[in-house]
Amino acid sequence: MSWPSWLPLKPALATLTPYGAPQIEGVVALNTNENPFSLSEELTEEMLRALKPALRDLNRYPDRDALELRSALASYINKSSGANLDLNNIWAANGSNEILQTLMLALGSRSAIGFLPSYSVHPLIARATGVAWVDGSRRADFTLDTSVAIAEIKVAHPSLIFITTPNNPTGNSLPIGEIELLAQAAAEVGALLVVDEAYAEFSEEPSAITLLAKYPHLVVVRTMSKAFAFAGARVGYMVADRKTVEAMLITRLPYHLSAQTQALALVALAHSDELLGEVAQLRIERDRMIKSMIEHGIGCVPSAANFILFSGFSKEPAVLWRAMLDQGILIRDVGIPGHLRVSVGTPAENTRFLECLFALK
Ligand SMILES: Cc1ncc(COP(=O)(O)O)c(C=O)c1O
Repeated sequence: MSWPSWLPLKPALATLTPYGAPQIEGVVALNTNENPFSLSEELTEEMLRALKPALRDLNRYPDRDALELRSALASYINKSSGANLDLNNIWAANGSNEILQTLMLALGSRSAIGFLPSYSVHPLIARATGVAWVDGSRRADFTLDTSVAIAEIKVAHPSLIFITTPNNPTGNSLPIGEIELLAQAAAEVGALLVVDEAYAEFSEEPSAITLLAKYPHLVVVRTMSKAFAFAGARVGYMVADRKTVEAMLITRLPYHLSAQTQALALVALAHSDELLGEVAQLRIERDRMIKSMIEHGIGCVPSAANFILFSGFSKEPAVLWRAMLDQGILIRDVGIPGHLRVSVGTPAENTRFLECLFALK
């Protein structure tokens, strides 16, 4: 991207490009790890009813501290992880991306490190918020070598360490015992360990939330965008020690979470069993896709998420990506040589994807 000389753009941003997966109408969209199932008629009716009082009061600012929503999120977390947290341990925002940004603004006092390939928005937000980013490494099979990671942490001496599990775009998860080792290393260098669990509900590994009582410098970032089928509403949250939450209050924008968003999220959480009801089916579909792809000579990274990183096709990734799109199937070229990523869709969408892949590979 080239910039005019009159634009006082920060030098650190001049070489960056905006984040942006293509949004294309009328295709089978398997490129942003969304939940493919839309909300039920009953639930949308209930959400409309919940919006009415929120709309009537739009002349007023929303609850700045989202107290009711944070309490409801704490109840959901306690129920699903056996923790004993309250609203002081939760912060909520417009998607977990906003959580990540608020975190970096408040706590990026030194550099941040993440282990690549991983979620590309972590380094992007770091750079946009003026936090130096350090690339940590993974093994060639995309698993994390914890002892190498700890050595990299000691060299970088960061204030923030990012771990994504299950990892995007690779899909593999990090065992809880290894997260604990990283939490110990984080304590040694005085860093916060940020565990991005955007896909946690698809995984069978215990959540890092179970370590929070022992390691106060741990932060777990979650979202309602994926398993909860709630991406359009933009609700992400963080589970952490109350002091970390208090630090977030300094860098959050006042009244950042709209009254409508808070009202809708409360309804969604009250119906979490229904919204999460498709997770089991998505896992079954994921495993069906992997089995079928392997049978056709495609290599798949073991996935604990709702997407699969695959390789073993003869075309260049960009060429296969385009050929699939020409057939109406949108997947993701994540820039890893020889690999493409596909999100798990409805059974019919997945079957179409598989047929198309086997015909074009
Ligand atoms: C690992 C990871 N973290 C965070 C996010 C951001 O999700 P959202 O801002 O929708 O909560 C994503 C979205 O794809 C993701 O893959």
